[in-house]
Amino acid sequence: MNILVTGGAGFIGSNFIIKVLKKNQDKIVNLDLLTYAGNLENLAECEGNSNYRFVKGDIGDSKLVHSIIEEEKIEAIVNFAAESHVDRSIDGPKIFVETNVLGTQNLLQVAKELSVKRFLQVSTDEVYGSLGKDGFFTEQSMIKPNSPYSASKASADHFCRAWYHTFNFPAMITRCSNNYGPYQFPEKLIPLMIANALDDKELPIYGDGKNVRDWLHVDDHCDAIYTVLTDGKPGAVYNIGGNNEMENIQIVELLLEMLGKDKSLIKFVKDRPGHDQRYAIDASLIKQELGWEPSYTFETGIKETVQWYLDNRKWWERVRSGSYQEYYSNMYGSDGRHKTK
Ligand SMILES: NC(=O)c1ccc[n+]([C@@H]2O[C@H](COP(=O)([O-])OP(=O)(O)OC[C@H]3O[C@@H](n4cnc5c(N)ncnc54)[C@H](O)[C@@H]3O)[C@@H](O)[C@H]2O)c1
Repeated sequence: MNILVTGGAGFIGSNFIIKVLKKNQDKIVNLDLLTYAGNLENLAECEGNSNYRFVKGDIGDSKLVHSIIEEEKIEAIVNFAAESHVDRSIDGPKIFVETNVLGTQNLLQVAKELSVKRFLQVSTDEVYGSLGKDGFFTEQSMIKPNSPYSASKASADHFCRAWYHTFNFPAMITRCSNNYGPYQFPEKLIPLMIANALDDKELPIYGDGKNVRDWLHVDDHCDAIYTVLTDGKPGAVYNIGGNNEMENIQIVELLLEMLGKDKSLIKFVKDRPGHDQRYAIDASLIKQELGWEPSYTFETGIKETVQWYLDNRKWWERVRSGSYQEYYSNMYGSDGRHKTK
């Protein structure tokens, strides 16, 4: 398949591209604007692969998207591109509407005009809002987003649904729980806590730390996405989760124990406004219909992940210092062509 992956220089997108290029014969074009969250260093091992091409650009640029789909004979699109950090959406929601809502609508529009055969919107369990102590989100749960981030993702999901119902366009949606693994930007809980602990800096935890999230290894999420892309039903929504609920404080204490650091580094800070209490996913549909199962236990996944951040200290230090952003200009000329190709 010729696949357009958007947002492929981010955390999940880069893991997806590396995995697909290793395992399959698909051709991938990665369209990414390289915002602060885009890091092409994640994909250094893909440079030179004849099945891979990087294009710097915006999913909201219809001319660019049009030319990529035509030139590369794109058959399928996986839309990872997004503003993805809840805290940033509270400080500045507008860009979340521009990228997550208008950007997705633009992709849908151009893809429909050019009759792209498969379209997968990578969404989140956060569109369902917050759960009490019991219960799970199913695909039938009400959409009740609580943050500007989740509201923008929910809106994009509604456009996908509308494109299927109105235009019979083959859009599908996946809604996954919290991911962890290599290449996650160190503003998110797990890499932030690992990096701070290794630097003996304070570990800030919102409120009482008792918010519950369901954690899934990024590799299992990527596997699920590829499964839906190839075998999912047009118009369908699939929940993806790891059945691994943990309180934020439990995660942080576990990381400190694994790193041999003291709990005194933990600092409870004022809670995030509108902070959702609990997310939990019922992933039985994707399991029963498409045969997907996670392969990682949390125990092995978190061990591997901590080891990865220990072995790749340079990677997250370059992210923290900002020097990762020089990679694009070092590797690509002003015309966007790879300097060594
Ligand atoms: N991280 C999670 O735990 C999680 C869980 C469920 C769903 N998701 C969803 O998965 C997707 C990927 O998440 P992530 O954690 O990898 O995000 P990320 O923030 O690490 O990466 C986002 C990528 O999108 C790119 N981008 C941003 N605006 C763009 C634009 N206008 N045009 C082209 N590219 C643009 C960025 O440069 C970056 O490379 C998002 O849509 C997110 O909502 C994430």
